[in-house]
Amino acid sequence: MTLHGKTAIVTGASSGIGEAIAMRFVDKGCNVALAARRLERLDKLAAELGERALPVKTDVTDPGACAALVARTVEHFGGLDVLVNNAGLGLYGSIADGNPEDWRMMFDVNVLGVLYTTRAAVRHMLERGQGDVVFVSSIAGRRVPRADGTVYAATKHAITAIAEGLRMDVTSKGVRSITVEPGLVRTEFPESSYPSAEEFYADKDYEPLEAEDVAAAVAYALEQPAHVSVNEVLIRSTEQTK
Ligand SMILES: NC(=O)c1ccc[n+]([C@@H]2O[C@H](COP(=O)([O-])OP(=O)(O)OC[C@H]3O[C@@H](n4cnc5c(N)ncnc54)[C@H](OP(=O)(O)O)[C@@H]3O)[C@@H](O)[C@H]2O)c1
Repeated sequence: MTLHGKTAIVTGASSGIGEAIAMRFVDKGCNVALAARRLERLDKLAAELGERALPVKTDVTDPGACAALVARTVEHFGGLDVLVNNAGLGLYGSIADGNPEDWRMMFDVNVLGVLYTTRAAVRHMLERGQGDVVFVSSIAGRRVPRADGTVYAATKHAITAIAEGLRMDVTSKGVRSITVEPGLVRTEFPESSYPSAEEFYADKDYEPLEAEDVAAAVAYALEQPAHVSVNEVLIRSTEQTK
């Protein structure tokens, strides 16, 4: 399948992996609705990408906003072929000392936000009998990498269940479910829990992946022929041992 001439929504397109995916898609001739809360970032990226990019300010914790995102994309580009559920955050802390508000926020964005957006997008895809739903999960969707990341890992384990349940429901109706599970990637992601992303990465004894590496994995899965479903891709820096 080629991405040329297709239309995608990328959530969390204002930075990191989402931004890299949006750039790669546009580079391949795909229209992209850029979704996130920081509209000024989306506007700047859209200005760089040109008319194939549509910035849509969206908070994925609002089901109405997710439905409006899909409707606006279909109205503007005339359809929707690919949804990339990428928006997410990690707030670290043990269960004993963790903040329940942090847990609520992670489940709101990483799980419910994905469900709201997927629901709206899949309804459209099922009507047309084709589409792809990509979940940017994590290695933490397969195992718990660190004790203070237990709740984050729980949200990503939920994505593993959602992606597989969706696959069973829609695969025979022309819609593919693709989960991409990165190890450590250099983005702004650590800034929710650490004073600076630079310090966080400098402390590691290996080089992480770059956001473009994950974007390439997403494109690889999507570009398989329609009869091939790459349902799960685990991608790590070669230097990452755990
Ligand atoms: N970096 C890593 O090491 C790593 C590893 C494995 C998996 N991941 C996953 O990769 C995905 C992208 O993360 P990243 O590393 O690229 O981090 P990032 O640079 O911090 O990007 C996170 C994105 O999520 C968006 N977002 C957060 N809350 C949102 C909300 N309520 N509504 C809409 N958008 C929201 C942010 O946009 P706004 O703030 O503008 O809304 C931002 O664009 C996440 O799902 C993360 O769990 C990251």
